[in-house]
Amino acid sequence: MIVNTELENKGNQFPSKIIDFKKDVDRLYFYTNNDVILQITVVRDSVLRFRYTTVGNFDNDFSYAITKYASTGYNKLEIDDKKDKYIVTTSKLRCEISKESLRVSIFDAKDNTLINQDEIGFHWEESYQFGGNIVKMSKVSNDGESYYGLGDKPNHLNLKGKRYTNWVTDSYAYGKDTDPIYKSIPFYTGLHHGKAYGVFFDNTFQSFFDFANERRNVTSFWAQGGEMNYYFFYGPKMTDVVESYTDLTGKPHQLPPMWALGFHQCKWSYYPESKVKEITSTFRKLQIPCDAIYLDIDYMDGFRCFTWNKEHFPDPKRMVKELEDDGFKTVAIIDPGIKIDKHYSVFKEGLEKDYFCKRADGAYMKGKVWPGECYFPDFTRPEVRDWWSGLFKELIEDVGIKGVWNDMNEPAVMEVPNKTFPDDVRHDYDGNPCSHRKAHNIYGMQMARATYHGLKKFRYPKRPFVITRAAYSGTQRYTSTWTGDNVATWEHLWIANIQAQRMAMSGFGFAGSDIGGFAEQPQGELFTRWIQLGIFHPFFRVHSSGDHGDQEPWAFDEDVTDIVRKFIEIRYQLLPYLYTAFWNYVDHGTPMLKSLVLYDQEDVQTHYRTDEFIFGEHILACPILEPNAKGRRMYLPRGSWYNYWTDEVVKGGKEMWVDADIDSMPIFVKEGAIIPKYPIQQYVGEKKITEITLDVYYKEGKENSELFSDANDGYDYTKGRYSLRNFTLTGRKDELIINQFKEGKYITEYETFKINIHGLPFDINEIELDNQTISLEQIKVNGTHSIVVDKNFSELHFMA
Ligand code: NOJ
Repeated sequence: MIVNTELENKGNQFPSKIIDFKKDVDRLYFYTNNDVILQITVVRDSVLRFRYTTVGNFDNDFSYAITKYASTGYNKLEIDDKKDKYIVTTSKLRCEISKESLRVSIFDAKDNTLINQDEIGFHWEESYQFGGNIVKMSKVSNDGESYYGLGDKPNHLNLKGKRYTNWVTDSYAYGKDTDPIYKSIPFYTGLHHGKAYGVFFDNTFQSFFDFANERRNVTSFWAQGGEMNYYFFYGPKMTDVVESYTDLTGKPHQLPPMWALGFHQCKWSYYPESKVKEITSTFRKLQIPCDAIYLDIDYMDGFRCFTWNKEHFPDPKRMVKELEDDGFKTVAIIDPGIKIDKHYSVFKEGLEKDYFCKRADGAYMKGKVWPGECYFPDFTRPEVRDWWSGLFKELIEDVGIKGVWNDMNEPAVMEVPNKTFPDDVRHDYDGNPCSHRKAHNIYGMQMARATYHGLKKFRYPKRPFVITRAAYSGTQRYTSTWTGDNVATWEHLWIANIQAQRMAMSGFGFAGSDIGGFAEQPQGELFTRWIQLGIFHPFFRVHSSGDHGDQEPWAFDEDVTDIVRKFIEIRYQLLPYLYTAFWNYVDHGTPMLKSLVLYDQEDVQTHYRTDEFIFGEHILACPILEPNAKGRRMYLPRGSWYNYWTDEVVKGGKEMWVDADIDSMPIFVKEGAIIPKYPIQQYVGEKKITEITLDVYYKEGKENSELFSDANDGYDYTKGRYSLRNFTLTGRKDELIINQFKEGKYITEYETFKINIHGLPFDINEIELDNQTISLEQIKVNGTHSIVVDKNFSELHFMA
């Protein structure tokens, strides 16, 4: 049964009056006289949790989404018992709960702005078919209010006016309006009156969000079971909301190895070994940088996970080693379906230990995937996850595989109408037994988690690299992700751009699309434009299905190869910049891609923009999304920007035409930025990097930039062995000062900075390096002013 509307059912029930109140440290309980209890937990001054029961007591409190590392603690908590309401006040929020209706209104504690308000608020319907409730929440939606988030929805960035379902689904060749697809991230940010707040509905049952679609002034969300249990985050800045959500559901447990931020080449499938080698050696021959090569399902013996097809890959360990010697990291796919085969050790062990999922009446959950009939591990059991982690020992430790790709983990089942397990399948849910209705949305997440722990253990002291297709909130702690089986069309290029931005504002930044399109084959032009966008996506991989022709950078014409090489080279130059952004994401949850609304929410022009985004802190990119384009119109956000290609400075806050023939795309750098760059390498670690280039973009005024460096792998950085350089640029009419402040114990390999100054409005007549005058001869002028300085300078001063 699908509940299509939050209100349509006549069986809706509502809380009655509040009759009692209790406080237990940070938990507040509001009791009504019909067994409804509202529990409010003050997580932080700006984060409140709302939980409702209809039966007089709460179930065991358990969530896969919330990390144990989430920040807690508040500065202020006051409760006022007024005649008609309770008022809960923290240093950031004032929350009023009506005694009559249990409806909640939330205000900014400082300026009293109403941020969010229940419409009907909590209501529910009993589920006759399954027991429990269909739990519902409705909130007032204001004219001019906008909504963002929800993970991978392939639709306009602003969710207003639409309805969405969360139910992770294998969605081959999905389209612009397909819903749901692979991920379930029930978190959105609302923006009204320039202030942003967030709602995370932590309920793993199938859930629905309606953003003023059914009723113009109502936003509602509801789920097929479980509790009404949501977190409210207050900004007022949108980045603060996203960071708070990411703090609660977890940042990645560690940085990725830097090579994982390089370029990845994938295909379903490269085999046999000679084909794999042909691909990798062509990359080297054509001098197109590449760090990772993928093995899709055909490397296995009859699609049995953790086995090899020995005919195609007679000696995987040798092959992986040879690839490694050439700078390639091999990533292998592992699916959840285990072939029913009594001679197959993984199957036998799973069966003996009783690790496979069962139906309600006790039979095994049997479903068809690539290997034929399979059983599926119950990844919601800790001992099954441990077993699964252990299965990676040989693949990682012995064979030398560097990363694992988890696919089909929705879980996808073939030839059945609902494409997945039936509802009645039982799961342990970490000691909270339940049906698949509750476990479906987190099944893939728990598989990726088990895979992550396997890699973490067997790759140690190196960092793990995992990629997953299915995900629920919190999956970003363990793995990267891609957006599934897209199509080689221009519309899908638009979708890929939206999805990467949306994932970033949904706390899951390490994401990218199948570049070029998975299904069908792109023309060279589409492939080129997709690579141009892809260099700005944290996960940067070409992938396609073998049925539709080749999709390597040389599979089109020579011009395509040359342009693609040029853009991949830009990605490799920007690696220290992206790595710094990644560190900010891992450290504070800061999104690595910022849609314009996230960048400048006060400018209403940004609220409906979809194409332009900020990469890291200072680079603005806007992909070309149409064939035969010589450029495009785009919106330049407020502030001044340097055209990356010409150094022309443009004032933002307006829409404008930007030239971008096929060998170019609109890229701008914020004035005042200092962009660190590597020399071009064919793969991460190819060269000993002794010098980093700092591209300095003059500005009249101040701007801060950062450069994070460490060993590019391993865990030493967590013990202080990193180097964080904060640069402050101060520009005046006749001088430019760069101050550096250093943190961390890591001694970087690079010794010098080559400083390129863009847009300097005066001729340099004097230079001081840490208060010592240095010879002007050291400056080279060739379009930009360049100078090489010791990496540990504190102050560099250029004067007219
Ligand atoms: C489906 C995945 O989405 C795709 O990327 C992969 O190539 C195929 N399964 C085969 O493993």
